[in-house]
Amino acid sequence: MLKHTEIKDLVKLSLQEGETRPVTVKGWVRTKRGNKHVAFIALNDGTCVQSLQVVAELQTEEKPDGFGDELMKKITTGACLCVEGNLVKSMGKGQNVEIQARNIVVYGEANPDTYPLQKKGHSLEFLREIAHLRPRTNTFGCVLRLRHAMAYALHQFYHERGFVYLHTPIITGSDCEGAGEMFQVTTLDLDKLPKTPEGSVDFSKDFFGKSTKLTVSGQLEGELGAMALSKIYTFGPTFRAENSNTPRHLAEFWMNEPEMAFYEIEDNMDLAEDFLKHLTSYALENCMDDLKFLNDMYDKSLIERLEHVQKMTFERITYTTAVDVLKAANAKFEYPVEWGVDLQSEHERFLVEHHYKKPVIITDYPKEIKSFYMKQNADGKTVRGMDVLFPQIGEIIGGSQREEDLDKLLNRIHELNMPEQAYWWYLDTRRFGTAPHSGFGLGFERLLLFITGMTNIRDVIPFPRYPQNAEF
Ligand code: 4AD
Ligand code: MG
Repeated sequence: MLKHTEIKDLVKLSLQEGETRPVTVKGWVRTKRGNKHVAFIALNDGTCVQSLQVVAELQTEEKPDGFGDELMKKITTGACLCVEGNLVKSMGKGQNVEIQARNIVVYGEANPDTYPLQKKGHSLEFLREIAHLRPRTNTFGCVLRLRHAMAYALHQFYHERGFVYLHTPIITGSDCEGAGEMFQVTTLDLDKLPKTPEGSVDFSKDFFGKSTKLTVSGQLEGELGAMALSKIYTFGPTFRAENSNTPRHLAEFWMNEPEMAFYEIEDNMDLAEDFLKHLTSYALENCMDDLKFLNDMYDKSLIERLEHVQKMTFERITYTTAVDVLKAANAKFEYPVEWGVDLQSEHERFLVEHHYKKPVIITDYPKEIKSFYMKQNADGKTVRGMDVLFPQIGEIIGGSQREEDLDKLLNRIHELNMPEQAYWWYLDTRRFGTAPHSGFGLGFERLLLFITGMTNIRDVIPFPRYPQNAEF
C-alpha cells in the first residue's frame, strides 16, 4: 500500500484537467451524501480545517465493480477510513481537488444511532459535554491547531532572545500570589488524619514531611533562575482553587512567566508588548485558514482585531490615571470606582474598548491590591506592578518589577502576616547578590481567547478544569 499523504498537503494542490496522482489518505468521515450512482464523502484528518472530497462510484447494473452496499453502510459520519485512489482536479464547487476512490478500508465504524457528533453546528455548550470527541469538529480542530501554533511561537520568541526555558515545580510548599486559593496535595488518609497535640493536621507525617499544594505560579522559582541565568521563562500548568464560574477563569490553566535580571519595569513592558505582537503576527502569518474559519463562524471582526493590535503602540498609563479616566467617564458601572479599588473587568474593557481603543498597560497600583513581591514606589502607597489589558479579554498579562531590597521585602511580608520561614530560600536571592529584576505572567488561555475569538475559556483548552468538572 502507498504511504499515506496528509490531507493538508493535498487540498491546496491545483491539478490540470486530466492529470491524476495516485494517493492514499486516512481520516474520519465528516459527511456522506450522494445518489444511486455515486457517494461523496468528506474526509478530515485534523491536519487542516479543509476536508478532502472522496468520490466513490457505487455498484449498479452498469457498474458491477462499484462499491457495494455492505461497505457503504459502514461509511457513516465519524467512521475512520483508509482510501486509495487517484487525486484529480475537482469539477465541483468548493474544492480544488478530489480523490476518486479505488479501494476503501473501514478502520473503525461509528454507529449512527450512538455517535453523538452527527450534525454540523452543535452548540459549544453541548460540545463541552462531549469534550472527549469535540476535537473532531472543525471548530476545535482550528482552536487546537492555533493553541499548538501559539505554544511554538512562544518558545521561538524566547529562544531567539536568549532566554532559558526553566522547568519549575508543580508541587510546592509556598503560595506565590498570597491569595490562599490552592489545591492541597497529600497522601494522608483523609479518613484517619494524623493530628498534632494542638489538634491540627500533622503534615510531618505526609509524603513530603510538610504541607504541599499545587502551584499557582512558577514565579518564585523563576526568580531563582533569573538570579543566575539572567533571562528565563517558564511555561506550564498552574492551579487556582478559586470558585469562579466565569468565562475567563479555569482551575487549571497554562501560564508563561518570563523573569529577567537587570530589567526595570519599562523593559518589562517593552518585552510584553513585543511578545504579544510576535504571537499575533505568527498566527496571522501561519494560521490563516483556521483564523478565517473562526472569523466566519463566530466573530466577523477577529482578523481585523488581530491586525489592529499588531499595528498599535500599546497605551501606558498609571493606575491613578486609569481611575481618573473612569471617574470622568460618562458610563454606568456595576462596581463604582474609587482610588484603591481593584479594577473590574467592566472597567478594564471600558478603557481598552471605548476610551483608548487599543491595548492598555496599567502600572503603579495601590500596594494593597497587589502581591507582596512587587517593587515599592517611593510614595509608600503604590507598587511597580503592570497589567496588560486586551480588547474583549481584560487582563491578559500580570507582572511587575520585583522588590530587590531585603528589608523592604521583609517589611511587606510581615505586614501581610505571611510565614517568613516558608520563604527563606526566596529571600536568599535578596541576601546574596540581589539585583533589579522584573517579569510577568501570561495566561495562555486568555491569549487564546484573543487569538481564536472564542468567548469562553473552557473552549480554548482541550480538557477544561472548573468547579464541579473534571470528567475528561
Ligand atoms: O496576575 P496573575 O495572578 O500573576 C501571577 O501569577 C504572577 N506570578 C505572574 C508573574 O509576574 N510572573 O496571573 C497571571 C495571568 C493573568 O494575567 C491571567 O491572564 C492569567 O494568568 N490567569 C488566569 N487564567 C485563567 N484562569 C485563571 N483562574 C487565571 N488566573 C490568572
Ligand atoms: Mg493579575
